[in-house]
Amino acid sequence: MFTALPKVDIDRIMAELDRLASKSAAPPPAVTRVLYTDQDLEARAYLKELFADAGLSIREDAIGNTFARWDGLEPELAPVGTGSHTDAIPHSGRYDGTVGVLGGLEAIRALRRTGFQPFRPIELVMFTSEEPTRFGIGCLGSRAISGSMPPESLVALRDADGRPFDAVRRAAGFQGELASVKLPARYFAAFVELHIEQGPLLERAGVPIGVVTAIAAPAALCVTLTGEGGHAGAVLMLDRKDALCAAAETVLAVETTARSSGSTDTVATTGVCRVHPGAINSIADRVTLEIDVRDIELARRDRVLAAIHAAIEAIAAKRQVEAVVHCLTSDPPACTAAIVVEAIECTCGKLGLKSLRMKSRAYHDSLFMARIAPTGMLFIPCRGGISHRPDEYSEPEAIARGVEVLTFALAKLSYTDDRVFDGAAHAR
Ligand code: HGY
Ligand code: MN
Ligand code: MN
Repeated sequence: MFTALPKVDIDRIMAELDRLASKSAAPPPAVTRVLYTDQDLEARAYLKELFADAGLSIREDAIGNTFARWDGLEPELAPVGTGSHTDAIPHSGRYDGTVGVLGGLEAIRALRRTGFQPFRPIELVMFTSEEPTRFGIGCLGSRAISGSMPPESLVALRDADGRPFDAVRRAAGFQGELASVKLPARYFAAFVELHIEQGPLLERAGVPIGVVTAIAAPAALCVTLTGEGGHAGAVLMLDRKDALCAAAETVLAVETTARSSGSTDTVATTGVCRVHPGAINSIADRVTLEIDVRDIELARRDRVLAAIHAAIEAIAAKRQVEAVVHCLTSDPPACTAAIVVEAIECTCGKLGLKSLRMKSRAYHDSLFMARIAPTGMLFIPCRGGISHRPDEYSEPEAIARGVEVLTFALAKLSYTDDRVFDGAAHAR
């Protein structure tokens, strides 16, 4: 397959990761890059420059998913896809998502430098809005691509300032019909995403490559608690209906419910708390909480969601406040495809690299790509398992190994027959 073995240029990837990290609304080492903000648009422009320099044909869809394609010998065949996201939650790190986009680009460049020609196209994807920061729902780009989020649901989205998704995306320069974002079934023959683990297991085990078998089932709730506001000095404690005290009990109930699910695979977090009116000498009349609940097992996750709902009702009744619970998302888990797992593991074997099969507790665009194509993920270690923090870090050697495995796996999958993909079973 190769006249010369592809070599990954890690110095180039690290320089590009540095440059991308500079497109941030937060001072280094933190990165903040929220959907459709100036920093997001600067990052997109930079990436398109890199994609063009690599000789790839580029297209952006109506919400900003960006595709960079290498046609190969049979351009009509369904491509093998790779990619990830480059948006970043407030005050987070520079490797979450970006390693999959710039690593996918370098995998393609490394193959092209050897004169290799893929049989079927290889297409790199930079997904729009994997993070839920702006519109409260994660993976907007891959949900829309996979048909998991219809245009009318996108149109209904509002950001924290009440701005409609459709107006914001158009102001950012993305026009076109939302219905055109959904890709035809079997558009991709297969999809592989390289990502940092965002957990400590690979580092603890001293294993360089994680091979994902399942991606956790994420759910998100928005809870609005409405009590009675008033003067912090004048209202007696007995007469209060303090929305923030009800919220505080709710936050602890979320934690207790997750801890007592019977499994460490259950996690729940209240990551957002907005207090109104938010003055030291005014009793909170309204509090909005955003709660993230996940589990590898769907039924257990849904039991935890039901228990959280019940706890909120009891707290609201006891404190005589009104509680409105809105389910933002509740997605099933995804299993990866055996054909992609095999391509990754076979590559690790050939490269003499140990690999470890594992579940992903974080969600990724692959959670939705798995609905429309045989999909797999490979992880690389990140220091202390830290992520979504400015001190998120992955060694250049770890990134180089991940990109090297991705390079060979993409080449292998680009020569895989459609019938093999048709029969793609789930990894076990
Ligand atoms: O929250 C997640 O799992 C992902 O990092 N957006
Ligand atoms: Mn993330
Ligand atoms: Mn990510």
